[in-house]
Amino acid sequence: MVGLIACAGKSTRLFPSTKFLSKQLLPLYDKPLIYYPISMLMKVGITEIGIVTNAENYELYKKQLGDGSDFGIKLQYFLDSKPMGTIGSFKVAEQFLKGQKVCFVLGDNFFYGKQFDEQLKKAVTNANGAYVFGYPVKNPKAFGVAKFDKQGNVTELVEKPSNPPSNMAVTGIYVYDEKCVDYANACPLSERNEYEVTDLNNMYLKNGELKLIKLNKKNYWLDAGTSEGLFLASEYVRKVIKKNKTQIGNLDEIAYTQGYITKQKLEQNYQSLKKTDYGKYLEKYLK
Ligand code: G1P
Repeated sequence: MVGLIACAGKSTRLFPSTKFLSKQLLPLYDKPLIYYPISMLMKVGITEIGIVTNAENYELYKKQLGDGSDFGIKLQYFLDSKPMGTIGSFKVAEQFLKGQKVCFVLGDNFFYGKQFDEQLKKAVTNANGAYVFGYPVKNPKAFGVAKFDKQGNVTELVEKPSNPPSNMAVTGIYVYDEKCVDYANACPLSERNEYEVTDLNNMYLKNGELKLIKLNKKNYWLDAGTSEGLFLASEYVRKVIKKNKTQIGNLDEIAYTQGYITKQKLEQNYQSLKKTDYGKYLEKYLK
């Protein structure tokens, strides 16, 4: 399975901070936001990852993350010069995705939790049809939302409904089987002139191939693509890190503990990181 992270958007909800800089390169507490989706993929064993970016940020992503070898993974970059929605990413990365199962992540989504980790691992291991992850929210109008019948089965997913059929938002991580490229190509442009991930999900649903995994409130999820979201997620990460004396989204740690890099490579990475808590945390692996 490969991973694909969508980072090509104009990030207008974070203007003026993102006038020239992609939001996924801004810090979420102590590391760039893009580290978190990469970490989720690495933790479930995905080491081949495509990053879809716009023209302004293409070189910056490469400078920030390189070819992935620092983390023992393979990163490829895809240029979306005219971003046209979430599924626009599938179009520019088509050759990379063709014939592959895919874990697709919207680069501004922040997830944390045991149930989430376990369920994502399960979805990635099975990966037949499509898996989407639902999370109860107060403001469903801002998201893709699940509609249920009386038995609790999902009957439709609705993108940013003015009259939400439930409070179950569909979060920005999706696991698809090999059919996703063909299905994505069959998605028409939406009313707002975008290729919508919700349309792709509805195709799987209509074919009886979509499973919605409900994440409980012990997990933490938010869209960090606004100033408020980015701040809240940063505050959350800071709190968890300090309280549990742990790290979230530390790619160097994950690379080492997953066995993607050697201790020698970790030691080498550590040299430029040792002035930060992010770096100091790695010392326990270097003894
Ligand atoms: C996108 C999707 C939406 C999903 C959301 C999660 O919306 O279109 O279905 O619920 O991400 O963050 P966007 O935030 O790109 O408008």
